[in-house]
Amino acid sequence: MKKIAVMTSGGDAPGMNAAVRAVVRSALHHGFEVYGVYYGYKGLVEGKIEKLSRGDVSRIINRGGTVLGSARYPEFLKEEVRQIAVDRLKAFGITGLVVIGGDGTYRGAQSLNEMGIKCIGLPGTIDNDISSTDYTIGFHTALQTVVDAIDRLRDTSMSHQRCSVVEVMGRNCGDLALYAGIAGGSEFIITPETGFDKQLTLDAIRDSHLRNKRHAIVVVTEHMLDVDELSKDIEEFTGYETRATVLGHIQRGGDPVAFDRVMATEMGEYAVELLKKDIGGRAIGLSGLNMIDYDIKEALTMKSDVSNKRYGLVGRLK
Ligand code: F6P
Repeated sequence: MKKIAVMTSGGDAPGMNAAVRAVVRSALHHGFEVYGVYYGYKGLVEGKIEKLSRGDVSRIINRGGTVLGSARYPEFLKEEVRQIAVDRLKAFGITGLVVIGGDGTYRGAQSLNEMGIKCIGLPGTIDNDISSTDYTIGFHTALQTVVDAIDRLRDTSMSHQRCSVVEVMGRNCGDLALYAGIAGGSEFIITPETGFDKQLTLDAIRDSHLRNKRHAIVVVTEHMLDVDELSKDIEEFTGYETRATVLGHIQRGGDPVAFDRVMATEMGEYAVELLKKDIGGRAIGLSGLNMIDYDIKEALTMKSDVSNKRYGLVGRLK
């Protein structure tokens, strides 16, 4: 009997549970035994592996976070540590592993694949920074959370005739800020793709103030600049009273939206289909309306297609 395992790793993302559920249920459907690895690669090395049944994944499709837990575990870069993980899996007779996470998770999966465990990567991160898929599991939920926050900030900004500077997550990827800024009708969006030109930003906000706009929203990707400093500069230069808000980890929580649940379910099922055919070393992605898979190595080195829709939007915003 084929034995496979499923694991979530790196920053958690809403929709990971839907993917876990799909992997478990499809695997059982095909007659496999299926195991959950708890707390990512760290838990794998520590042997936190348990057999899962259909019932173990009931009522989780709608829940945020990950029932398997997650961890960041840089020690996994060491070959001797990865060997312990391989030995743990072999002790259970597990030959295939589905990993759900971001690029760090993919790197671990690629190494394990080279060490003889057939690994399939599913893109799970709110950052949408994996180039081998149009969207990552969790992105749409986090996006909705950010848009809800911007809507609320707009209410209070309007009442007080203020400018709000909102910092959102994304690591090195501006998708959350870009999409949320557009959906929230923000006045200015600053992302790693647009770059930051302080004077251009101040001029644009002052112009909107001079046009008698009573409030403004500026959305910024984390790590680009100090939002408190930018707020002070805006206040001094434009006449707007300004407040900074860092949304932080609130963006990672919450029940997954339907899009994330459906995409995660399809990806989980696809992963099991590949393992059924004894195929490993693949990363699954959504391309348009289709599920596709790439060599996981290629997925890690792929560059975003700058001509695609989202970067087209950035181009127009520049
Ligand atoms: O990768 C997801 C993410 O939430 C990033 O947007 C953010 O930069 C990072 O994780 C935060 O990591 P941690 O939860 O380890 O502080």
